[in-house]
Amino acid sequence: MIECGWSSPEAISACVATAQSWLKTVGDLVGLGSAALLTILAGYILQLRRESAKQEAVSSERFHRAKNAELAQHQFDARIASLTEDRNTLEREKTDLADRVRLLTDSIRANAAASETVHEALEISRAGDTAFWRRPPLPLHDAGLPLQLRTSCPTLMFANQKGGVGKSTLVSNLAAYYATKGLNILAVDLDYQGSLTNQMRLQQFGPQGAPFGQALDAKTVLGQPFRKADWPKGQLDQAIITATSNIPPQRPGVPSGRLCYLANNYELSQVERAVEYSWVLNMLDDDPRYRLAAFLSHAAQELGIDYILIDAPPRFTLGFINGLAASTHLFVPTVVDAPSAQAVETFARQFADTAPRLNPTLRWAGIIGTMTTGKTSALPQPMMSIASSTEFAARNRIPNAGPFFRDATIPRTTQISQAAALGIPFLQSAELREGEIIQTLGERILDELGKDGNQKPSGLSTDVEHASTA
Ligand SMILES: Nc1ncnc2c1ncn2[C@@H]1O[C@H](COP(=O)(O)OP(=O)(O)OP(=O)(O)O)[C@@H](O)[C@H]1O
Ligand SMILES: [Mg+2]
Repeated sequence: MIECGWSSPEAISACVATAQSWLKTVGDLVGLGSAALLTILAGYILQLRRESAKQEAVSSERFHRAKNAELAQHQFDARIASLTEDRNTLEREKTDLADRVRLLTDSIRANAAASETVHEALEISRAGDTAFWRRPPLPLHDAGLPLQLRTSCPTLMFANQKGGVGKSTLVSNLAAYYATKGLNILAVDLDYQGSLTNQMRLQQFGPQGAPFGQALDAKTVLGQPFRKADWPKGQLDQAIITATSNIPPQRPGVPSGRLCYLANNYELSQVERAVEYSWVLNMLDDDPRYRLAAFLSHAAQELGIDYILIDAPPRFTLGFINGLAASTHLFVPTVVDAPSAQAVETFARQFADTAPRLNPTLRWAGIIGTMTTGKTSALPQPMMSIASSTEFAARNRIPNAGPFFRDATIPRTTQISQAAALGIPFLQSAELREGEIIQTLGERILDELGKDGNQKPSGLSTDVEHASTA
């Protein structure tokens, strides 16, 4: 404690001196403290700095680590993206490859099937005519067509694989004869040689002829699948050729029928070949064996046809097989000699191989002797045994084959051969028209049809019987 007296200057001076020493002490003390404090502070600051440097190092390391991690993540993502892209590319390539493999497999299969078809086609072709034509498939609606025709319009095919036996002449004469009876007849020429067509055209235009127009012909019918819409009645009426409108009626008061025909010419042979190849290579949607049957079944109804007469070619072509598939009755004209009997047997075998499959309702209705040596329609006695052996040969293959018509044959006559140069012999030769030969055969055939329930045109047979006995 400083006791200051302000009573004298000494007192004051003593007081000041005391205060000064106090102040010095305090000052010393404060100086020491400050130094200590400063030291502590400096130490603390150093400590802080160290820690902060440490912290900084840690956070810098963390930062770097984070940066590195981010970079690594980027690289990783980029790698993943590139791998994903690679994978997608591979997937796409895999799909492309799978597609290519599928296409290749399909084309290999298609090639194998095509080569099998070609191989089969070759086998079938090698196996002969009947094997070629009797092969399946046989769509049911097509096979039903001949049956449809049987109930609507008797269709008579005149066929023999032996050539030159008088088939075409027989068809033109019979067609004309039936027309004189008042029947509407459609004669169908299936032979590209066109013998029947020639006779019809001669009858139509005379020996000077006429150019072929847009006539309805066999190649039009056989060359494409049948479609009813293609043949409306009016068009059919115009397209079908009427051989002649000048047919003398057989009986006064009974007008003649219409005699029209489906023409043929050499162009059919190309069409036949093209269709045959396409068919055997399975390239057709329809069964070309039934094109004629489909057409005739429609045409007969639209044109009011009573009988269809088919002139078959002497070979197993598309035309022939269409005739077989469209007909209700088969008549086999043959020359009456031993080689011809042999040919009938061969034909009977071919018929037995194909007809029951293609057209189960077709009946081998009879054998007609042509170019016989007699003068009447009766078969000459010396030919009887050949007729029997011909009949036997046919029945050997077809047990229910119709008979050899011994009472209705066609002799070889000059009337026929000469009149054939002018047109249809039956219409050209009055002698032939008034004679009994064609009439007897015509009626004999109608009798044969009657056995199947086909009605003979009323009242006419009696006249013919008169004519034939006259
Ligand atoms: N009864 C007959 N009398 C005389 N000549 C006939 C007789 N029948 C046909 N002919 C003549 O014989 C030839 C052949 O006749 P046709 O053309 O009718 O036979 P085809 O069997 O149809 O022949 P292809 O097999 O070539 O078709 C013709 O010249 C024809 O005029
Ligand atoms: Mg002929």
